[in-house]
Amino acid sequence: MKKAQSLRDLSKGMKVLLVEDEKRILEAYVELMSEFFEVDTATNGVEALNKIDTNNYEIIFTDINMPKMNGIELCELVKHNNPNQKVIVITAYSDKDNIIKLLELNVDKLLQKPVREDMFIYAVYDVVSAVYTQRKMENTLKFQEKALVESAKLAQMGEMLSMIAHQWRQPLTTISMVLNTVKVKIDLQKYSDNPSLLENDFIEAQEKAEESINYLSETIEDFRNFFKKDKTKKTFNIADSIRTCVGMIPLDNIEVKLDLQDHEIFSFKREFQQVIINIIANAKEQLSSIDMVKGVINITSSADDEKVIIEICDNGGGIPDYAIKPLFKPYFSTKGKNGTGLGLYMSKTIIDTHMNGLLTATNKNNGACFTIELPLKNKGNTPSNLTSFN
Ligand SMILES: Nc1ncnc2c1ncn2[C@@H]1O[C@H](COP(=O)(O)OP(=O)(O)OP(=O)(O)O)[C@@H](O)[C@H]1O
Ligand SMILES: [Mg+2]
Repeated sequence: MKKAQSLRDLSKGMKVLLVEDEKRILEAYVELMSEFFEVDTATNGVEALNKIDTNNYEIIFTDINMPKMNGIELCELVKHNNPNQKVIVITAYSDKDNIIKLLELNVDKLLQKPVREDMFIYAVYDVVSAVYTQRKMENTLKFQEKALVESAKLAQMGEMLSMIAHQWRQPLTTISMVLNTVKVKIDLQKYSDNPSLLENDFIEAQEKAEESINYLSETIEDFRNFFKKDKTKKTFNIADSIRTCVGMIPLDNIEVKLDLQDHEIFSFKREFQQVIINIIANAKEQLSSIDMVKGVINITSSADDEKVIIEICDNGGGIPDYAIKPLFKPYFSTKGKNGTGLGLYMSKTIIDTHMNGLLTATNKNNGACFTIELPLKNKGNTPSNLTSFN
């Protein structure tokens, strides 16, 4: 019996429910079906429904005439609750009037009594192979879904690492610079006549390094929270925040002109500072890449009734035309190996999505000008919408 063997192969591990009220017949069917399936039994529709509720059966075999709830009512309920549940109805010649009704209910097969093994195998074969194919497809889908989730996670982690590396570059440069300055002075024996100067310079260097180290550790904390839904906002002063950022970036011989008004917002302070640092770092990189008389970065902040407006403008020649459109796209950079192209993408996400504001860029006065608009405290960014971060 080749067909029997191939049915056995397909039905491996499948569990079925057999619903039949006559004990003798039930036992005979169980003996036959056990060759192919793990068989559970019920002697009426009500008992069957209880079992279906708590078990997963690949196929339900049911008789029609039974006490309490007959096979047709059972089929109706089962197919209503789960149209994909495979149901095979065992019918007698006397059930012929019910056949139309059963076909309307979309039962998967009718099996005529008396049930012989060869008939049984032919009747259930199609149903079993349909279940088998569906299972295989579901497993493939589950596997693909898992693989997708994994690669999305990896991509997200990779992105996060690039962002951390990006945020760390500036403070690490500061630490190295302040320590080197002291070292060079020692090498040049600047302190030999005046040892107390060394102490002063060392304390000053240590304080600057400490500030950068704190920033490094806070950045890691911020990134740990970056992909989480909730994060606490706090009230902070825009002007103070900008001044701290300017103090953190070594600007060599570039002049930074500040014209800042004191305004408070209720939002994510550390992320705001990341944005300011990104924009200033870009301006600095642009100014150092061109030959010019004097690099200047103008930073202003003002407010209207609703929002704070911050402008950061440089005189570095502006954003090239071809870069305007993709400026805020992830990985867009004109700096080759020296840029990840994540700075402005991240900044736009922080301002527009996390902080409920708007970051835009234009060229003016022979330079690039970045504008940040953010709701003032109590104007759309109040403690009542703490959960708007997502
Ligand atoms: N002030 C500016 N002047 C001129 N071009 C700018 C200025 N700021 C940004 N750009 C352009 O926008 C591009 C994208 O900036 P973004 O900060 O996203 O990436 P990046 O600076 O190239 O690399 P990184 O991710 O390391 O910051 C830059 O490569 C540069 O071409
Ligand atoms: Mg950049």
